[in-house]
Amino acid sequence: MKLSPAFFTLLPLAAAGGGSYGPSSHVATEIFSFPPTNPIFIENLFVLPDARLLLTSYVHFGPDTNSPLHVLNPVTSSVSVVTTLPNSTSQTGIAQLSGANRYAVTAGILGDNFEFVNNTISVYVVSLEWNALSATVVDTIPVPGAISANGLVAVGNVVLSADSRGGRILRVDTVTRTSSVAFADPLLFGDPANVSGSLGVTGVNGLFLKWHAGQRWVYFTNTAKGIYGRFKVDSLGHKVGSVEVVRTVISADPIGFTNSLDDLVVDGDGHGYIAWQDQSLLKVKRYGNGTTAQTVVLGPGGMANGNSGITLKTPTSVALGLGGDHIYVGTGGADAGNLTGGQVVKVTI
Ligand SMILES: *[C@@H]1O[C@H](CO)[C@@H](O)[C@H](O)[C@H]1NC(C)=O
Ligand SMILES: *[C@@H]1O[C@H](CO)[C@@H](O)[C@H](O)[C@H]1NC(C)=O
Ligand SMILES: *[C@@H]1O[C@H](CO)[C@@H](O)[C@H](O)[C@H]1NC(C)=O
Ligand SMILES: *[C@@H]1O[C@H](CO)[C@@H](O)[C@H](O)[C@H]1NC(C)=O
Ligand SMILES: *[C@@H]1O[C@H](CO)[C@@H](O)[C@H](O)[C@H]1NC(C)=O
Repeated sequence: MKLSPAFFTLLPLAAAGGGSYGPSSHVATEIFSFPPTNPIFIENLFVLPDARLLLTSYVHFGPDTNSPLHVLNPVTSSVSVVTTLPNSTSQTGIAQLSGANRYAVTAGILGDNFEFVNNTISVYVVSLEWNALSATVVDTIPVPGAISANGLVAVGNVVLSADSRGGRILRVDTVTRTSSVAFADPLLFGDPANVSGSLGVTGVNGLFLKWHAGQRWVYFTNTAKGIYGRFKVDSLGHKVGSVEVVRTVISADPIGFTNSLDDLVVDGDGHGYIAWQDQSLLKVKRYGNGTTAQTVVLGPGGMANGNSGITLKTPTSVALGLGGDHIYVGTGGADAGNLTGGQVVKVTI
């Protein structure tokens, strides 16, 4: 990574810290990685109520169209396939539906340029019980007319899916089994005029649902625009008000494959943690006065303790651990273009 003067101006902000956290309060530990012989690209991870992690994979190997859904036990570092999703090669978002043990996963047939083949995306409703070693696909709801479905959140039994290419949010009701476009917005659309190739057309990417003062906010990232923002939704998942920018991330280089925002979480204090490809975990602090500051928690320029020796290889995803004192970062495992096996790294917050 080429460091510019703009990058170094961020460091005093980071060192100044402030509030109840310090600059060195994060400890990172790699708890798992897929072996190079089975180099699964982790696209998303989700912490189950039993503390295991459900993992989706974006890159699937082999000719079949039954992509494997993995579960990881973070204590034993053992991973297994709990079910396969028929008619899909590539999986993206995960969200928990209301009702016990039911999860929604988006998947479809991957085509060229990181796009799904049109009309192959579905929301798979998966039933996975406490500590169970196998899951059941209980429904498959088609999402016609879309070529991307990325981050996913659930509001009750409705899921909202980030259509990165369309710059819009898709709304799928898993009870009525209907799919529609919830809304489109320029802040969700990519930036093909400024960013070349498939990244330029990748707008809204990660989604994270967070309650603030009795209101539901959906936080998002926009990859091509480097935006971390949010919008409010009601109890049926309909947008209320307008889409807001929380911060436009400052980076040394123009947005490209070494410099793009992926999935995110927001912690109990309102600070965002964003998987920042291709090597970093980014923290966006939010102060009481409404201003924000960014720091690298892990990766080049990072400030964390205990992170020496850990290189994030294409961080794609972040999930809050149970209890809220740590997060998990999932990676694609891509290292200089080679797939070496996705990692799961635990980071205290
Ligand atoms: C897979 O797709 C084919 C063609 O649309 C369909 O006939 C079949 O039922 C699907 N399989 C499953 C298990 O959903
Ligand atoms: C996907 O197919 C639908 C028809 O099923 C069409 O209306 C839409 O334009 C197609 N989308 C893309 C991006 O090709
Ligand atoms: C390109 O990016 C610059 C800086 O972020 C912005 O001011 C400009 O509007 C963008 N151009 C287009 C065509 O979106
Ligand atoms: C907001 O608070 C932060 C942390 O205390 C401080 O560094 C910053 O200068 C404040 N900004 C404004 C505009 O008051
Ligand atoms: C990637 O793989 C190629 C071909 O196997 C190899 O020559 C190269 O050294 C690898 N690069 C890294 C960073 O491992």
